[in-house]
Amino acid sequence: MSSRPSSRELQGFQQSTARLSDARGQCAGLIVVLADISERKRHEAQLVEVMETEQLRLGRDLHDSLGQQLTGVQLTVAAIARRLAEKSLPEAAHAANAATLLEAALRETRHLSHGLCPAIHLSGGLFKAVQRLAESMPRTHGVECLCQCDTEVQEVRLDDRTSTGLYRIAQEAMNNAVRHAKAKTIVVRLGVCDGRLTLAVQDDGVGIPEDRERTQGMGISGMEHRTRGMGGELEIRRGPQGGTIVTCSIPCRGTQEAQGERRARA
Ligand SMILES: Nc1ncnc2c1ncn2[C@@H]1O[C@H](COP(=O)(O)OP(=O)(O)OP(=O)(O)O)[C@@H](O)[C@H]1O
Ligand SMILES: [Mg+2]
Repeated sequence: MSSRPSSRELQGFQQSTARLSDARGQCAGLIVVLADISERKRHEAQLVEVMETEQLRLGRDLHDSLGQQLTGVQLTVAAIARRLAEKSLPEAAHAANAATLLEAALRETRHLSHGLCPAIHLSGGLFKAVQRLAESMPRTHGVECLCQCDTEVQEVRLDDRTSTGLYRIAQEAMNNAVRHAKAKTIVVRLGVCDGRLTLAVQDDGVGIPEDRERTQGMGISGMEHRTRGMGGELEIRRGPQGGTIVTCSIPCRGTQEAQGERRARA
């Protein structure tokens, strides 16, 4: 007889353990299987890279082709609407309506391209990009989303790759909270402590299942891969009042110097 096996990952290996019990339910032994999953991890990493490149390409194409064309059409229709209005023609209202619809389509295209291509989005810094993402959640997913940020985060120097990585982790954790947790509220926090930058995404949903390792999803393994690439740590756990907290913490330059300078000024 054996109890339900458990499994965990150990540096490129998947360890699965099953407890053997005798007829009286006493432990009679353990079966431990170590499977080399480094190849699978390598393929996952490649897939994440390919997806990243493809998303950037799509985002740029949307922004540069459809976005530019829509801008041209919207400006033209708005000019026609003005002309018709000047001549007090009844078609003016229809044209003005078409211009408004085109403006909405243009806004949507911008949102889509910025989501796919956060390099554009990140021009105002990671916090602003995450804040914009949070602000769009009620409209795009019907979920309240709060964004909190320590003032020190603005002083942290992040390269594009790290900003993009953290942005993607926030995006995936927020999407998971909507899709799987049925969350009503999501809170995203960016903070700095002891030379580490921390991104936490907390939801008030159903909570992460214990056996999530068995799912075929790519989101969590992608978050883990990105975090490892930044030399950081990813933790996913249930919150004290339920729901799920995803925490990604990475070492960062700039914070210790900035904190030192502040202490020296004080
Ligand atoms: N915030 C959450 N609340 C509850 N369950 C979650 C949450 N995040 C993830 N899960 C569970 O963990 C599983 C794995 O998540 P993961 O992001 O890896 O894959 P996915 O979302 O199912 O698919 P993909 O991200 O590839 O589209 C999910 O299928 C879901 O069961
Ligand atoms: Mg997911």
